[in-house]
Amino acid sequence: MSLSRPLLFTPFKMRGVVAPNRAVVSPMVQYRATDGLVNDYHMVHLGKFALGKFGIVFTENCAIEPRGRVTQGDLGLWDDSQIESHRRLTRFLKQEGSLAATQITHSGRKGSTPRSFDKPGELGPKEAGWQRWQVVGPSELSAGEPYAPAPKQLAAAEIEEIVKKFGEAARRADAAGYDVIEIHGAHGYLLAQFLSPISNTRNDQYGGDRAGRMRFPLAAAKAVRTNWPEHKPMFIRVSAVDGAGGWDVEDTIAYARELKAIGIDVVDTSSGGLTGLSTALPVKRSLGFQVPFAAAVKRGADIPTMAVGLILDGPQAEEILQSGDADLIAIGRQALFDPFWALHAAQELGCDADFDMWTPEYGWWLEKRKNNLPK
Ligand SMILES: Cc1cc2nc3c(=O)[nH]c(=O)nc-3n(C[C@H](O)[C@H](O)[C@H](O)COP(=O)(O)O)c2cc1C
Repeated sequence: MSLSRPLLFTPFKMRGVVAPNRAVVSPMVQYRATDGLVNDYHMVHLGKFALGKFGIVFTENCAIEPRGRVTQGDLGLWDDSQIESHRRLTRFLKQEGSLAATQITHSGRKGSTPRSFDKPGELGPKEAGWQRWQVVGPSELSAGEPYAPAPKQLAAAEIEEIVKKFGEAARRADAAGYDVIEIHGAHGYLLAQFLSPISNTRNDQYGGDRAGRMRFPLAAAKAVRTNWPEHKPMFIRVSAVDGAGGWDVEDTIAYARELKAIGIDVVDTSSGGLTGLSTALPVKRSLGFQVPFAAAVKRGADIPTMAVGLILDGPQAEEILQSGDADLIAIGRQALFDPFWALHAAQELGCDADFDMWTPEYGWWLEKRKNNLPK
């Protein structure tokens, strides 16, 4: 192994927990759950990223209540009976050396949707009997196509119930053995719906000015922090800009300062998603297009950030870390393309020529094979 260690492959300490490296599998919903339970599909889908030596492996978004699912096939942490299935997953991820991480969510007005690849008019797998449910939101405004159903406006008492459910989901995530928890506060789901004046037209204490619109998301973050062990880190995913012109980077920085005061450790900086089409992103979707948001939040709120979005290879990831724009690198679709992304990135960066980072059941053979390959 070479002596130089790229930042991507140095450990990252968060409270009492250490990620062995800074490569993270981004949360990616798979629509494969029944009743929110982890099954064999999730074990294989996520297990291969642990064999691929990502430092942190995130599950997809897990709903805190059934109506907070995006689709009927999402994972859940809304009931104690779901804990055991998650425990099986966290055991495996940790056994292979990754931190086990989960993302908790409420979809709000963007719930009850078809899978992304369903044909118009279809809702999930035909044989599974998926049904629509009444979605909820800060106001009665729909997110627009393809999120057609109009939400029911949440009453203040119902918002307080949802805050409690965020806390209960955090307690279950801890019982299930997760090392890291992330609140999904981005992509136009319920928390983001409250932040933006475009979706939140309330005139009670949960609406109005920015402080009012932040009240519910901050209360949810507090509830999670209270129910999540002190020594375990907590992330939040934000849309730095909502994609519809109602919430911008300056708002996100102010929000991140409040989140830091509550005890959030890392801001996972994404963007967009408030409305169906989300056409108002100020940047083109090009390589690393959301990195400037991670940098702005990191510098503006003095808080660690995770960069995500079209980060494709080791040198690109390393450059982001070296420039100080972010502390962690989340890989989404490129991890679907290459579940061994982290190991390949280590080779690209010249720090694992001998396959030492690989599980020895693979690495020993691959190292020996080197001599048999054409020069
Ligand atoms: C199949 C798929 C499912 C996704 N599900 C989630 C999710 O559950 N929660 C979330 O915050 N983002 C979700 N995302 C967004 C990704 O986490 C990531 O932010 C996005 O794909 C951009 O990163 P990439 O260019 O590396 O893919 C999903 C993306 C994909 C491709």
